[in-house]
Amino acid sequence: MSGIQSVLQETRVFNPSAEVQQAAAISGMASYKALCAQADADYSGFWGNLAREKLLWHKPFTEVLDESNAPFYRWFADGQLNASYNCLDANLINGNGDKTAIVFEADDGSVTNVSFRQLHERVCKLANGLKAQGIKKGDRVLIYIPMSVEGVVAMQACARIGATHSVVFGGFSAKSVQERVIDAGAVAIITADEQVRGGKTLPIKAIVDEAISMGGCEALKTVIVYRRTGNPINMQAGRDIWLHEVEGPQSAQCEPEWVDAEHPLFILYTSGSTGKPKGVQHSTGGYLLWAKTTMQWTFDAKPNDLFWCTADIGWITGHTYVCYGPTAAGITQLVFEGVPTYPNAGRFWQMIEKHKVTLFYTAPTAIRSLIKASETDPNVHPNKSDLSSLRILGSVGEPINPEAWMWYHKHVGGERCPIVDTFWQTETGGHMITPLPGATPLVPGSCTLPLPGIMAAIVDETGNDLPNGQGGVLVVKRPWPSMIRTIWGDPERFKKSYYPAELGGKLYLAGDGAIRDKDTGYFTIMGRIDDVLNVSGHRMGTMEIESALVAKSDLVAEAAVVGRPDDLTGEAIVAFVVLKRPRPTGDEARALAKELRDWVAKEIGPIAKPKDIRFGDNLPKTRSGKIMRRLLRAIAKGEAITQDVSTLENPAILEQLAENN
Ligand code: WTA
Repeated sequence: MSGIQSVLQETRVFNPSAEVQQAAAISGMASYKALCAQADADYSGFWGNLAREKLLWHKPFTEVLDESNAPFYRWFADGQLNASYNCLDANLINGNGDKTAIVFEADDGSVTNVSFRQLHERVCKLANGLKAQGIKKGDRVLIYIPMSVEGVVAMQACARIGATHSVVFGGFSAKSVQERVIDAGAVAIITADEQVRGGKTLPIKAIVDEAISMGGCEALKTVIVYRRTGNPINMQAGRDIWLHEVEGPQSAQCEPEWVDAEHPLFILYTSGSTGKPKGVQHSTGGYLLWAKTTMQWTFDAKPNDLFWCTADIGWITGHTYVCYGPTAAGITQLVFEGVPTYPNAGRFWQMIEKHKVTLFYTAPTAIRSLIKASETDPNVHPNKSDLSSLRILGSVGEPINPEAWMWYHKHVGGERCPIVDTFWQTETGGHMITPLPGATPLVPGSCTLPLPGIMAAIVDETGNDLPNGQGGVLVVKRPWPSMIRTIWGDPERFKKSYYPAELGGKLYLAGDGAIRDKDTGYFTIMGRIDDVLNVSGHRMGTMEIESALVAKSDLVAEAAVVGRPDDLTGEAIVAFVVLKRPRPTGDEARALAKELRDWVAKEIGPIAKPKDIRFGDNLPKTRSGKIMRRLLRAIAKGEAITQDVSTLENPAILEQLAENN
């Protein structure tokens, strides 16, 4: 809570300079308020006008919002469009064909430029190739590929033919890939031979092979492989085919498949409070509208900008602010294959200087780790690079602590660039609560105010509004176009998770706690209220990690996972484990902890590895057998137990768990 306390007591305010304000699309608080008032006065008029203004419709919609089957809201439902047409053809029509769409920098620093015309050609060729492979509208295609032009081409090609993509982050394990292939019923996977990160080559196709060999992937017919390194890999005849062979013979023209606005553009798996990751399903029209609009509002993106979002396309941030937002807005963007610390921790700053990046969007975890690196090695400090091209900075994925905010502002932004601290989620499709660079006075650590049209509020546990100054549950009172449509294959879970009856069934439950400032009404996010952790900006379910641990059934009897605040990663994963053998200590405990960590990496992926594993003879439970997680959270933080433990079945266990093995 100390982090939140310091945010709540934050008194520093940074107003946009007159220059920034003048140049911005939404200029000054009065313009922001006017837009909010428009949305208040005529909600469907507001969204309908935006949708007509921002997107190219093949068939115009006649109804903006259909609430007849709430909470399964439908937007622009009788309209038809194509996402790839709006991201690519729209730029050719606008005379942007020769403009650079993507500046790709590989791990080794080599650079490739791709114009909108070239991107269009690549996408059309692959789209035709996918069709030649028998892939059609409505099919699901899994994409498991490193950061690359090919990754963006793959997503856009799916969109072009109306296939629904599901991108899986390259850091997930074979088991995770297999589960997603099965859940989505994917007919094809688009992957690469290997990936290159930090000077090292890592397998990726081999993980796909392993995933398929685990069984259950009956619908899967084709594996398309992008040749990244050219090192020898296994290619299974009749199933595996090179990407260049799929594209090669195809025409560079491909008539887009016109789909209904509600057609599922993609499914993206994310962690929830139960064991199984959920497939968040997004629409085509509403999603794309917000991807484009927020590029223009939140980042104030202009034709001459060079935008750089450092997120991987395996996360929602990479969907909205790499694949779809910048292209739909006709903005040149940098796509980076590598890691921020290779060849040294000044890589981001050197790249900003080299490419003259103007809009930079990254995660607090990256900022914190680069602060630390520059403290030990002055050569990687941002002041060693010329960052004067920067205009606006962004932060995403987790709360940014005021100290990191101030460092970002001073050393990266030269005290001149507004920082947009964007709060949103996989489920929201795009930004929800964020400052506008040319309007909102900034307070470090606060994501400030909702975007126009986003009816965010704070309520108590039964759904009643709370006054400013009182912390509660973050909700959104009205549906918005880019919202999650359902959980793939599990509409009941969608309803229960996001429109719970306890809140009256009409409020979207974000899953975060939040508080609004008494005077300004500014929002501060206080962290998840469910069993979801945020480790380095990556969402992890505690139950998911617990299930992985107990799946090692020869060793583990019981496991409970909690989060602990961490200076670098925001939160760290702590696992309390009861073994099916006497409690280990010393070297044995260390060896077993390593074995379990490696196991979790295999079950879910390295990002889910617990930082700390404690062994106990038991877990603290109430007499009715419920694990007392609040006690485990206190132990994980190293706090003395001051809570009442009289209802505990086995109080002595607390001391044992507090010991470091
Ligand atoms: C957290 C990432 C504070 C929050 C786009 C949310 C944030 C979860 C912020 C979603 C922010 C995201 N300030 N917390 N600016 N942005 N979060 O689905 O807990 O990976 O619910 O989407 O990250 O994570 P997800």
